[in-house]
Amino acid sequence: MKYFINSTADYHQHDLNSLGWELTVCNSLEPLNSPCRKALTSPYSFGKHLYNFLSKIIPFNDIRSVLEMGGGMGYLMRDFLTLNPKLRAKMIDISPYLLDKQKEMLQSLGVDFELADILTVSSNDLFCFDLAIMNENLGDLPTLVAEQIEENNSDQNTNNILGKLEHFNKKYNLPLGLNEKEHINIGAMEIVEKLCLAGIKYIYLSEHSCEAVVPEEMKPYLSFPSSGIPEMISLKGHKEFTIKFSYLQKIAKMLHYKTRRGAFADFLPLNLNDKVKTALRLTTSFNDEQEIVRQFFYDIYKYEYLILIKGDEK
Ligand SMILES: C[S@@+](CC[C@H](N)C(=O)[O-])C[C@H]1O[C@@H](n2cnc3c(N)ncnc32)[C@H](O)[C@@H]1O
Repeated sequence: MKYFINSTADYHQHDLNSLGWELTVCNSLEPLNSPCRKALTSPYSFGKHLYNFLSKIIPFNDIRSVLEMGGGMGYLMRDFLTLNPKLRAKMIDISPYLLDKQKEMLQSLGVDFELADILTVSSNDLFCFDLAIMNENLGDLPTLVAEQIEENNSDQNTNNILGKLEHFNKKYNLPLGLNEKEHINIGAMEIVEKLCLAGIKYIYLSEHSCEAVVPEEMKPYLSFPSSGIPEMISLKGHKEFTIKFSYLQKIAKMLHYKTRRGAFADFLPLNLNDKVKTALRLTTSFNDEQEIVRQFFYDIYKYEYLILIKGDEK
């Protein structure tokens, strides 16, 4: 088995100077006049939709401290703190540019900030949080890319990789490395293990999923493969990989967490009006708004969320 580590750390630390190249669902719902808001049954921002959804699953009255990792522009946390001013929040981000944006967005809300790669933060610094959030960023964490050998891949590097795979295979009974063509979301698995071992009671994660499926009722409007194998997404200055959520779910279950998983469409209810249906049925969009709506619909079925709640199933 040979793997090359795909890391986005350098890009985020040194090159990133805009999120415009990477329009997250959270960002696409931000402008009040966004066509994406109009494509929903209620025209709210992403954070408001998510908070309303999570509050039916998580007892927010019991939550005091919340940690968001990789919070981009800070919109999601702004919404959470506006809806629940009792929350104490901390933001950790690897990007100095985006951490500054978060400071601007959240300046009046008493938030703590830390510039760090979340994978280097120790579990001891995480156990104090009641809720941890990672939205649309698991794919930024390192991926083991199958069948690519880098010339400078030292033996030590290979040993480290194989050691990690053996750890996950043994501890969580996973088949990592058996399919030699399958890329491995090693960073996403590490962060799930770290957050669960820190004992954080509630964890929310989301990302593009390689296991997402188009529901039957949406098939006239949307199609994408559900390969089950992390797929590469090429973006400005870096590459990301879709996430194999079933492995993350298995790790969390074995660490005694209950899990709930689904598509963004569960909390972003669509308004399938005639205008939207027309945009979705076209093979080529006639205007920018149609293109934005088509991308948005793809995203809300391609993105999955995973909610972890400490404590075994009863
Ligand atoms: C695609 S953006 C998502 C931003 C935001 N959560 C949203 O939904 O709009 C990825 C975010 O994760 C951060 N990030 C990427 N890798 C990280 C790492 N290893 N540790 C901490 N933050 C990271 C980026 O700087 C950025 O804020």
